[in-house]
Amino acid sequence: MAGKCKLAVLISGSGSNLQALIDAAVANSAPFRVVGVISDKPDAFGLQRAASAGIPATVVAANEHAGRDNYHDALAKAVDALQPDLVILAGFMRIIGGRLIDDYAGRMLNIHPALLPKYKGLHTHQRCLDSGDPVHGSTVHFVTAELDGGPPVVQAMLTVAADDDAESLARRVLALEHVIYPMAARWFAEGRLRLGNGHVELDGVAIDAPLVLSDETLVA
Ligand code: GRF
Repeated sequence: MAGKCKLAVLISGSGSNLQALIDAAVANSAPFRVVGVISDKPDAFGLQRAASAGIPATVVAANEHAGRDNYHDALAKAVDALQPDLVILAGFMRIIGGRLIDDYAGRMLNIHPALLPKYKGLHTHQRCLDSGDPVHGSTVHFVTAELDGGPPVVQAMLTVAADDDAESLARRVLALEHVIYPMAARWFAEGRLRLGNGHVELDGVAIDAPLVLSDETLVA
């Protein structure tokens, strides 16, 4: 790709992962830049983050596009308009469908707050606690048509503490996400990370399992 890798970031809420990407792009002269933000919620705080950073933002609200197909079309058009090299789902609370899945195959990442394949879907922190799982974390993965099921790239793992509740776990997981998501974006932008034949390739080597980094490594 010519110049910096262009990221389109899709959000629904706080956008703290968006912020981590914006900060990484500025602070470390990263090989990527955020060219646009798309939210399905007009009141998402992440839109303010985009405005503060001078990044164009668009709202594609579900209630303005009746029916799932129409919504997916509108979303695809908004993404296309940004001409991104990489689409980043950062707390985007809608299932991606329609032509976006094929058009951006191998060029769309999601972050899910669990050690996939455990706890796909919602309420991951509480479900982890309810299972008595000793470890928890987050996963960056390529997006496919299977919800939270695309090939995983990197995971951040932490040890669940005796006094953790869903809120503290969410906070601890989020802090790790802010490290691994910009990391994965950088790998992609540098051409080190790609999806080939459904397999994740890192530095030219196909990996069957994601890279797992522990919280001790990630947060000094
Ligand atoms: C993150 O925990 C992410 O894993 C999940 O939604 C949350 C988004 O947080 N998909 P934020 O909007 O980036 O602060």
